[in-house]
Amino acid sequence: MIVEELKLMHYRNYKELQLQFHPKLNILVGENAQGKTNILEAIYVAAIGKSFRTNKDQEMIKMLMKNAYIKVKVNKLTDKVAIEIILSKEMNKKIKVNKLSLTKHGDLLGNLNVVLFSPEDLKIVKEGPNERRRFMNNEISQMLPKYYYTLNQYNKILQQRNKILKDYRGKRFDLDIWNEQLINSGAWLIIYRRNFIKRIALLAKLMHRKITEGLETLEIQYDSNVKVKDDDELRDIKINFSNKIEEFKEMEERRRLTLVGPHRDDLIFRINGLDIKNYGSQGQQRTAVLSLKLSELELIKGEVGEYPILLLDDVMSELDAKRQNYLIKNLKNIQTFITTTMTEPLNIKNGEEHKLFKVIDGEVSIFSSK
Ligand SMILES: Nc1ncnc2c1ncn2[C@@H]1O[C@H](COP(=O)(O)OP(=O)(O)O)[C@@H](O)[C@H]1O
Ligand SMILES: [Mg+2]
Repeated sequence: MIVEELKLMHYRNYKELQLQFHPKLNILVGENAQGKTNILEAIYVAAIGKSFRTNKDQEMIKMLMKNAYIKVKVNKLTDKVAIEIILSKEMNKKIKVNKLSLTKHGDLLGNLNVVLFSPEDLKIVKEGPNERRRFMNNEISQMLPKYYYTLNQYNKILQQRNKILKDYRGKRFDLDIWNEQLINSGAWLIIYRRNFIKRIALLAKLMHRKITEGLETLEIQYDSNVKVKDDDELRDIKINFSNKIEEFKEMEERRRLTLVGPHRDDLIFRINGLDIKNYGSQGQQRTAVLSLKLSELELIKGEVGEYPILLLDDVMSELDAKRQNYLIKNLKNIQTFITTTMTEPLNIKNGEEHKLFKVIDGEVSIFSSK
């Protein structure tokens, strides 16, 4: 898929902006704090419905303004889609697809697929399990809107179950009905996650091996809180889930918190057998995330039938020349947006078709186009 056009009004530091993009390579060059990432963020919001930088939609509205507007025109293999997002300080955000207002925001998912790669993504391998669950949630939701709805449902049940545990004052209480609901939606999350990780792990292993020229083997393992095997069916997972809840019953009453379920899942990344969270070098961690991101491109292609767009925010300078080359070479059929502060950017010298934009203080001009 290709993003043909972006329009912004009162978005971040943009008063008004209209850009036509190159179908292959788009490079946004500028000093810090000029508005490069804001452009990627706007495209991301049009794809996912929320920012990757903030949970507060209002932050994206230009200072002193009441509303912000994003419009993205997408060209897909089979159709064209126009996505509009209206952010407001007074109302909930509005999302329109081909001029129709969506009643459920989740219905936006799948209209525009993106893979984002930013320095923040290093957190997926370096930081706590929250980051890895966020990664799974975002990526699976994009490919499978059903997952998004199940996750929302699970989180609501979890909240209510936690509230009941919190209010527990030594009286008898009955969690059965909540347990059943927790298990019903939780077991689906576990199945979706297991299947997703199985597939992406395989792709990432191949990718990582190629990038490291056969020196490193990357393994990604789903470390689920309720244990699940490769061939477990929904029924098996529900039984395991239920047994584990039983096992943790007393501890939950003591801690007044739901301790069992996919909200406690994790992933393990290993290179040549060693957990890279603790034992990987910075370079290995970066390459692992690069492999992961490139795998997502392939996974989405397999799932939705065409490549997503790729947003690379400030990552080029962090990769060595070899990795940069590998990346650019692998992106021939994928529309890519790159932000960089480098004045002489990247490996586009060898005749790659592209459009290069200069970004200065919320104004964008075309620098060169080929
Ligand atoms: N809601 C907002 N209203 C006005 N300006 C904003 C808003 N949010 C961020 N900015 C401005 O946007 C700029 C940062 O843009 P960003 O795209 O992150 O920069 P970079 O070019 O470094 O990627 C900063 O100058 C910041 O003050
Ligand atoms: Mg930036």
